Amino acid sequence: MKITFAESAKADIAAFIVDEGDQLPEAAQALDKASGGLLSEALEGGRFDGKTGQQAIVVLPKGAEARRAVLIGGGKPKKRDTRALENIGAHLVKAIAASGFKTASLVAGDAESAARAAVGAKLAAYRFDTYFTKMKPDQKPSLSGLTVVTTDPKGAKAAYLPLDAATDGTYLARDLVNLPPNDLYPESFAEKVKELAALGLEVEILGEKQMAKLGMGALLGVGQGSVKDSQLGIMKWNGGKPGEDPVVLVGKGVCFDTGGISLKPGPGMEEMRGDMGGAAAVTGTMRALAQAKAKVNVVGLIGLVENMPDGNAIRPGDILRSASGQTIEVQNTDAEGRLVLCDVLWYAQEHFKPKAVVDLATLTGAIVISLGHHHAGLFSNSDDLAEELTKAGLAEGERVWRLPMGPEYDSLIKSKFADMRNIGGRAAGSITAAQFLKRFVKDGVRWAHIDIAGVAWVEGEKAPTDPSWASGFGPRLLTKWIMDNYE
Ligand code: BES
Ligand code: MN
Ligand code: ZN
Repeated sequence: MKITFAESAKADIAAFIVDEGDQLPEAAQALDKASGGLLSEALEGGRFDGKTGQQAIVVLPKGAEARRAVLIGGGKPKKRDTRALENIGAHLVKAIAASGFKTASLVAGDAESAARAAVGAKLAAYRFDTYFTKMKPDQKPSLSGLTVVTTDPKGAKAAYLPLDAATDGTYLARDLVNLPPNDLYPESFAEKVKELAALGLEVEILGEKQMAKLGMGALLGVGQGSVKDSQLGIMKWNGGKPGEDPVVLVGKGVCFDTGGISLKPGPGMEEMRGDMGGAAAVTGTMRALAQAKAKVNVVGLIGLVENMPDGNAIRPGDILRSASGQTIEVQNTDAEGRLVLCDVLWYAQEHFKPKAVVDLATLTGAIVISLGHHHAGLFSNSDDLAEELTKAGLAEGERVWRLPMGPEYDSLIKSKFADMRNIGGRAAGSITAAQFLKRFVKDGVRWAHIDIAGVAWVEGEKAPTDPSWASGFGPRLLTKWIMDNYE
């Protein structure tokens, strides 16, 4: 869907925001008159009164400016924050995407409001339907263009550009999470990463031999039961001053997580196609930064593996040697994400001098129990960094909630046989996972870990801006965080 900004527009569908309990807006008066009062009629008798999420579709007489008018509930204007504006755009798209009409206009006020309504519209227009072979034309969306009418088209466009880049990053992250594991495995994921070089990213892929040379026994251990080759994806966006230290993002990319020899139960296992959500978030963010030409140096590192049960798979009891030299007793092969991340985190600090390292991972089921589906879990050794991320998440609607860490939790991952074990027992499962990662963070390095197991995909009721299974969580939060604090 192509989005443009203008001071006025002619389209098949003319949409207007109606404030809750209020009359038709000024902008709709002319069309109302020309149609003999059909728009104001829509405000009478029925239940449409401008509440959030309500829509009224009005068929206009032949010869009118547009074929349909749509009234979108705007809720109370005082409460119209960023999310509400995005939802207005999203509700409009949901109402008319498959209406059979191609173009629409939405009257949205000032530059900031217009940009946010546009973001919401685009987020809602996402589709993942390439695997349906029998879709009839009338099941496909018809809407191809939206003009957002604003008093300041120039300002709206300027505000929209970086947000649009982040949204394209969200699209990419959604695609990656939605893709089935037979089509998205470490090497095919790496191929998609290579395609991003076209946007100006510097991309390098390491295979198993190179990772073995780096001593990445933990990451390679997870992948050793799979017939697929494990990969390390390295993406660099050099938009800042040459030689300036980068921000480093690290993503868990378990393309499918069966649990390995500690096999997961069958029902619901298909969801583990999304266990590369952290890597998807990092990849989407790198794409966004490149598209927005952010003036900052950022490195994205993704550990890509498949966790399978096999004659060659790691066993509970195995002791792995990580790239840091620390040894890990595997007590559960399903706690594989931390094994992947620890080697990639180490790589981040050995090869770069990061201003901050942030890792994202669908790491623990326990975080879903703690926070449900509306906040990701945040862990950090830096109060500043935690605050920066919390703020950025609130601003972009990808919220994080900080949980505690501490030496008492760290003692839960002691092992009788090695430097540590990869599980901590039933209590505080998300925290012990974070404590495990922290053992691979060097002193003085600002680090945060975001557990996105509850937010990378959501079944059931969701925001109108989140139309598919995969939410694409990450790029909006991370681009905002980087641009606000490091550009
Ligand atoms: N990928 C899972 C975590 C997960 C669970 C993500 C639900 C999304 C939704 C992770 O690899 C895992 O299996 N974690 C185990 C750890 C346990 C064995 C210590 C878990 O959470 O059960
Ligand atoms: Mn697992
Ligand atoms: Zn996993």
